Amino acid sequence: MFFSPVSSSSPVELTLASKIAAVLVASILLHGFLFHGSAWKSRFYQVPGSNLLAVKVKILTEALCIDCKQFVNGQLSEVYNALGPSVMDLQIVPFGNAKFVHVDGAERGDKPVLQCQHGVAECDGNIYEQCVVMQLYPYAQRYLPFLRCLYDELPMGHSDQLLDRDAIANCSTASDVEWVDIAACHDDEKQVALLQKRAKSQTPSYHKGVPWVEVNGRHVEITDDGASLLRAVCRAFISNGGTHPSCSSSLVV
Ligand SMILES: *[C@@H]1O[C@H](CO)[C@@H](O)[C@H](O)[C@H]1NC(C)=O
Repeated sequence: MFFSPVSSSSPVELTLASKIAAVLVASILLHGFLFHGSAWKSRFYQVPGSNLLAVKVKILTEALCIDCKQFVNGQLSEVYNALGPSVMDLQIVPFGNAKFVHVDGAERGDKPVLQCQHGVAECDGNIYEQCVVMQLYPYAQRYLPFLRCLYDELPMGHSDQLLDRDAIANCSTASDVEWVDIAACHDDEKQVALLQKRAKSQTPSYHKGVPWVEVNGRHVEITDDGASLLRAVCRAFISNGGTHPSCSSSLVV
């Protein structure tokens, strides 16, 4: 939005506009550097607090669920690519239908154990994803490619084997997130326990399966026409006072 068309400007205005743009870009870069240091590698990001109109979009997922894969790598990615972070404040919560349960034979006072719908592998995958989201939220443009890569690389469905770390490391490299940070988070038991608890608290118990989509706190039914998410996000954005070219088609209004 800073870079509105300047084609009708005189040369003097153009120079002034580019100076202003340069100062803005420099201060944004400096902000990123100061607050995020070396982990800050994004090529494209927003300044926190600058997107007051953005619509809260929360997606409950699981690492090894095929319907989640189809939705995240399909409709969600398309809509996010079209609308971007200034329209969507996208929060993905990889927990889904996991549960803390008391296992048979546990001693009194034993802590409940986390069981994931698709087995141990899924709890493992959810944690890698939670670590990345924790480290990068609200910059979904940075963590979404990592999640997409995992959905492409990991075998979906039930497994009780821990995931292949090479596959995760490769996805980190491919999507420009720091593997050492992800690995350190994943391997820290206390951190993992906190993250799983937090993900559970962000997963409303009334959800009926995954993927589960909420736009500004209201559930949205995802339909096969591929436009349900776009429609819901655009309606909310327009009612916040926003406009976006991808929100002006007859499909949306
Ligand atoms: C990870 O990447 C390396 C180097 O490109 C490749 O040799 C290896 O097979 C990949 N591993 C997995 C599990 O994808």
